[in-house]
Amino acid sequence: MSKNILKHLAIIMDGNGRWAKERGFIRTKGHEKGAEVIRDITRYCAEHPTIETVTLYAFSTENWKRPKYEVEFLMKLLDSWLKKELPTYHEFGARFETVGNIEGFSPKLQKTIASIKEQTAHHTNVTQILALNYGSREEIAKAATRLANRHEAITEESLGNELNTPYTDIDLMVRTSGEQRLSNFLLWQLSYSEFFFTPTLWPDFSSQELDDIIDQYTNRERRFGGV
Ligand code: FPP
Repeated sequence: MSKNILKHLAIIMDGNGRWAKERGFIRTKGHEKGAEVIRDITRYCAEHPTIETVTLYAFSTENWKRPKYEVEFLMKLLDSWLKKELPTYHEFGARFETVGNIEGFSPKLQKTIASIKEQTAHHTNVTQILALNYGSREEIAKAATRLANRHEAITEESLGNELNTPYTDIDLMVRTSGEQRLSNFLLWQLSYSEFFFTPTLWPDFSSQELDDIIDQYTNRERRFGGV
């Protein structure tokens, strides 16, 4: 049996709040620690021989429902984290991209996002896509609307290509913290993906655990509906 190749990895980073609570910290401490873990994962993906894209769920359209202080904290954290990570994007040869509706973010944060994208656009080891204010149903509905407005046929191919997330199927989806749901993440792109759910809370996740998961993925049988 030939081994599975992993080109596009997607991760739902979950469990920051529980990690903080277990330690008697406020929830935002968990987000801070969670943001740090991303560097280790980006390095791993950049060094991995076949991974081309890693898409990370950082903020969903539903996350606005969180307490105002937490939403504001996450926005500020994203801004400072991106600025701090720029040298590591360069070091790892990682390109930064986003998917989702960032127009709702502050002009300052939008400017930071645009600047990091621009400064890392030439890197080719891996593309890291942060899903920010992202909701998959909205992405699909908007793509279909654009096609309809242009009087173009809606087919699997045309709709897939019209999505904002680059239309490469996701090979492997990992969700941390033991929750087993998709939470409106990349519904279209995950159609044939392999899923892994780990009880590890995101701030405790590491490239070693990812490596172990990828090892299992590589040896799983993928039939794509065949026999
Ligand atoms: C889920 O934990 C985490 C998120 C809201 C998304 C991921 C956010 C980070 C990794 C930190 C910030 C990211 C960047 C890029 C700066 P949760 O709060 O839902 O945890 P819980 O389910 O235990 O409450």
